[in-house]
Amino acid sequence: MHRKMALILILMFGFIMFFMCSENRSGNSLLSIVPVPKSIKILSGKFIISDKFKIMSESDDPGVKYVSDFLENYISRARSAKVPVMGSEEEKENALILRINKQEEKSLGAEGYELKITPGKIIIRANKPAGLFYGVQTILQLLPAEIWSLNTSKKIGTMELPCIIIKDAPRYKYRGMHLDVGRHFFPVSFIKRYIDYIAMHKMNVFHWHLTEDQGWRIEIKKYPKLTSVGAWRKETMIGRLSDRPYRYDHKRYGGFYTQDQIREIVKYAKERFITVIPEIEMPGHSVAALAAYPEFSCTGGPFEVKTRWGVSKDIYCAGKDETFRFLEDILTEVMDLFPSKYIHIGGDEAPKDRWKKCPDCQKRINEEGLKNEHELQSYFITRIEKFLNKHGRKIIGWDEILEGGLAPNAAVMSWRGISGGIAAARTGHDVIMTPTEYCYFDYYQAPRSMEPTAIGGLTTLKKVYSFNPVPEDSLIVDQRKYVIGGQGNVWTEFIGTPEYAEYMFFPRMCALAEVLWTPKDKRDWNGFKKRMDKQYKRLYEMGADFRIPCPVIDRAVVVNKGEPVKIGNPLSIGEVRYTIGSKDPDISDSLYTHPLVFNTHAIIKSRVFLPDGRAGSVVTTTVLIKDLAPKGMRFGLNYKYFEEDFSDTLPDFSSFKPVSKGHASILDLDVLPRRESQFGVIFTGYINISRDGKYRFWLYADDGVEIYIDNKRVAGNKSYTGSQSAGKIFLTKGYHTVRILHFELWGNQALELWYSGPGIEKQQVPPRMFLCDK
Ligand code: ACM
Ligand code: ZN
Repeated sequence: MHRKMALILILMFGFIMFFMCSENRSGNSLLSIVPVPKSIKILSGKFIISDKFKIMSESDDPGVKYVSDFLENYISRARSAKVPVMGSEEEKENALILRINKQEEKSLGAEGYELKITPGKIIIRANKPAGLFYGVQTILQLLPAEIWSLNTSKKIGTMELPCIIIKDAPRYKYRGMHLDVGRHFFPVSFIKRYIDYIAMHKMNVFHWHLTEDQGWRIEIKKYPKLTSVGAWRKETMIGRLSDRPYRYDHKRYGGFYTQDQIREIVKYAKERFITVIPEIEMPGHSVAALAAYPEFSCTGGPFEVKTRWGVSKDIYCAGKDETFRFLEDILTEVMDLFPSKYIHIGGDEAPKDRWKKCPDCQKRINEEGLKNEHELQSYFITRIEKFLNKHGRKIIGWDEILEGGLAPNAAVMSWRGISGGIAAARTGHDVIMTPTEYCYFDYYQAPRSMEPTAIGGLTTLKKVYSFNPVPEDSLIVDQRKYVIGGQGNVWTEFIGTPEYAEYMFFPRMCALAEVLWTPKDKRDWNGFKKRMDKQYKRLYEMGADFRIPCPVIDRAVVVNKGEPVKIGNPLSIGEVRYTIGSKDPDISDSLYTHPLVFNTHAIIKSRVFLPDGRAGSVVTTTVLIKDLAPKGMRFGLNYKYFEEDFSDTLPDFSSFKPVSKGHASILDLDVLPRRESQFGVIFTGYINISRDGKYRFWLYADDGVEIYIDNKRVAGNKSYTGSQSAGKIFLTKGYHTVRILHFELWGNQALELWYSGPGIEKQQVPPRMFLCDK
């Protein structure tokens, strides 16, 4: 081949490779867009936002004006200079053009967009204004993270955008975030902030849970006592639900939104293409309303606004016609405030105790030919549905509304797993998936020993990211379309402040946004983690109190003497500080700059600090020195791990086959590859006792657990309700066989072993005391 020809071919090949690679790179981490778009193509060159920059709107549609105003506000703030917004007639150089397609482009749907950035101009094209809005959200993410700063003094100056073509459209049409303002009340300013967060993540529904046993939060003109009485409780329980006796803070608490404030919020949301769906709970979770108007209960009361969390037996009476008139009056005012097609009517957690004893409810059951109280609930919901349908609205209810028969046109919000959603989709009802284990952002997001108090459970970021709202194997193709989307729920029994709310929904909301927006085959956990680095920076600029990720280091590392131990920094805006010993690191402790080396066993405590001094959760790492183990032994315990439905009692596991076997450096469930519920484990090895004497052992576990030393049962509780047990044993100096059996049924997870002995105060058994054969 001619040399020149070869050179041209090589150059061409290089060019093609460059384009292929750049698309690949951009899709992953380079551009850090969250949720990641459907397709990204990087072109060469860049667009400069300079003094000549302008926004050009080709449409008079008021929706397009929301978009141009929104963008103008961000760019003007960052540049401390007003960016002009103009019509389409003028010169198009240096412009960002907002264009509504003359002919609908099917692949973009109602919310998709195409964003094309070239050195001369930017064009965002969409079928509808919502698509333009999401194109603008993408633009903002392509700009420096400081663009998100609410601090106007932070001038950015000239900004660059990479030349690029993005085509993007959401996977689901319902992409929701919920907030319970009943348990705790959140100010209007925070509700607006929440709406900003929702919009930023290309989500489009704010589900506003406005009424609860512990507080009624929406002004209803016809029934003023709903807020003068129902919005206030005399005190609030503190501590965990399982604590006895109950404790209270003795402080009056409450608040509500006026109708003007609600209109203001609905408008604010609309300008960000977010529908606000109000939830007015019935027939349960209604004690605050009944405290104001006890005549709509079965017993007549009196009631007080609840001060304790949990489910109440007092609910609206389904037998009295007055109850329905009361609720219809309320819903009439609600419909006037909220233009959304859907009104959420709750329907969850309504015990039937009162209805069983109420003559009015029993009369209704007889007259309507209903079989039981579940059918009475169905009657209740269906009657409310008819009223709302008559006014052009549809109802959404929690999956309990399936019990006793689903109202004919209802949409179902599936929270107790996805089975309710599957059942509803199979019969042609719209479904929003919000199963607790993936979508409840009031659950712990990391092992609870590292976290502030939450309601329970464990829903990690990775778990949220793995959520698939449409279970392909349970729904045939035609039924899948009824799953219209998903939602993250923020229940606030344990979330008393905006800051803690932000901590709980960030970063999990980012993962859910990507689940609901991005095509499933474009999702990639490692790419997401990389892109999150800039997303954290954006959130930081916005002043959001997100949960700071932990340093990257295991809970236990076993190394040779002098072998380096590394701690990874997960956040480019963060720094890692650490201590050796038992003290939690603060801002004055050692900055991690290079790997650590050890000659003896040690404990490292590390955490990430942000530039503003805020610190993340502490990670405690046990460093064990291999060489210090006796000959033929190594530190840690062997385990066998089982996945079965063990019912509710700890088995001896002899009839079960382990799913996996392995070695755990420390006695901790977090070192096991395990599922969220219904698993079991046996740890075996030796415990190294340093002195003869009487020892006492305590086991703390969520579900059944036992410890055997020298084949003697020392402590345990086989039941799933046993969270604590203790026992004594005399031990001589030396190695004793140890066997710890545990099973986890559902919910919380915990397994800890503590001890005391001669001259040893009660403490967690240190990892160096566990050994096993090599
Ligand atoms: C719910 O969590 N009770 C819907
Ligand atoms: Zn009744």
